[in-house]
Amino acid sequence: MQSWTRRHLLRTGSLGLTLTAGVGLTPPPARAGTLAAATGGGAPTDNAYWQAIAGQYDVTRDITQLENGNWVMMARPVLAAYQRHQQRVNAETSFYSRRGFGKDARAVMARVAGLIGCGLDEITLTRNATEALLALITGYNRLRPGDTVIYSDLDYDAMQAGMVSLRQRRGVDVIRIDLPEPASHQGLIDAYEQALKAHPKTRLLLLTHLTHRTGLILPVAEITAMARQRGVDVIVDAAHSIGLVDFTADTLGADFVGYNLHKWIGAPVGVGVLYIRRGRVPDIDPSPGEMEAAPENIRARVHTGTRDLAAMLAVPDAIDFHQSIGTARIAARLRHLRDLWAEPLRDHPAYEILTPTDPRLTGGLTSFRRRGVTDDKENAAIAQTLLERYGIFTVHRSGLSRGACVRVTPALFNQEADVEKLLAALRHMAG
Ligand SMILES: Cc1ncc(COP(=O)(O)O)c(C=O)c1O
Repeated sequence: MQSWTRRHLLRTGSLGLTLTAGVGLTPPPARAGTLAAATGGGAPTDNAYWQAIAGQYDVTRDITQLENGNWVMMARPVLAAYQRHQQRVNAETSFYSRRGFGKDARAVMARVAGLIGCGLDEITLTRNATEALLALITGYNRLRPGDTVIYSDLDYDAMQAGMVSLRQRRGVDVIRIDLPEPASHQGLIDAYEQALKAHPKTRLLLLTHLTHRTGLILPVAEITAMARQRGVDVIVDAAHSIGLVDFTADTLGADFVGYNLHKWIGAPVGVGVLYIRRGRVPDIDPSPGEMEAAPENIRARVHTGTRDLAAMLAVPDAIDFHQSIGTARIAARLRHLRDLWAEPLRDHPAYEILTPTDPRLTGGLTSFRRRGVTDDKENAAIAQTLLERYGIFTVHRSGLSRGACVRVTPALFNQEADVEKLLAALRHMAG
């Protein structure tokens, strides 16, 4: 077997963009850990290490890709594994799905349970986080007419809509709160405490661990503990946080969580996870397609129908690659890339940076707006200018109570030069 040295990584890194034949050469991803030991330990500024990691991604160079919040591309070894799984599934079709897949699926689930830090009976795989979270929100059956449910302006649109639908489905009052901007750790806890005090009939709270709008990370454990004391259940949207923030189901503290594996875990598009803490499954209605299932059967909470088996089978490959680097190291690197462009603009007269400096509240993803420019279309125009004039791809986000913004999301293939280019462009645009 080839030895996976720093030089080898650097070489494949420099060739990586077009060398699809390199797939066959790709060594097991766990070797990236060996590289870390041989270099600067994969510290956020260890650019040799991160260039080598970047070399594992066949990313387009037509643009500077700083919009990785939609989903995160697969690293080359994961893509290669996915293609192998697809070939097999396609060749064997139901001969495989009816005879071999069950055992393989259990192995996949075991890896996912290990990743999340929970029991096998506490998770089921979905096609994405939306499917998991809507099953939780609409299936939560402990609400009674006259109860209150709360969500915030930074929650994801589909989950907001799910919460609003509870008015009709369950006869509850639906309260939307606006999260503070600028936010602080205590300010966020206080915002939820005030909301719970102001609405003592609250029974259900939706929290987004890392919001796709600004990148703000909520102190979920603290808010969940506070809610629990008041008899309030919490559903956590961890679509964007898993793989980008170091946590387990236990440290999060919530009984109901939805995750995505096709964002920061780097699995193929089409895999999410529904988590329900042991003992709480009966509090979520079964899917209409599973009404006869046993009350404790978590798999009956979502009925996906036929799905992409190869995407599921590639999940352990994605977890291998991810864990060969490690969430803590990934988080530190992406925060470093974020700090390089966002912190120099923190007090800039032309810009507002929407996530705080506090490392507890921010990951790699961060939004900005031109001071006072809150209009959706104007923010879309800023993203358009960044693309057309500077070749930098970002995305505008709307729906925040304080106004729209532009989101910047570096990934592992981005280098310091990419975010420095963004910083220069923003300074240039400010005149
Ligand atoms: C916070 C958050 N929740 C949920 C989702 C939905 O993810 P998916 O479309 O993969 O279900 C996203 C997607 O970007 C998200 O950012």
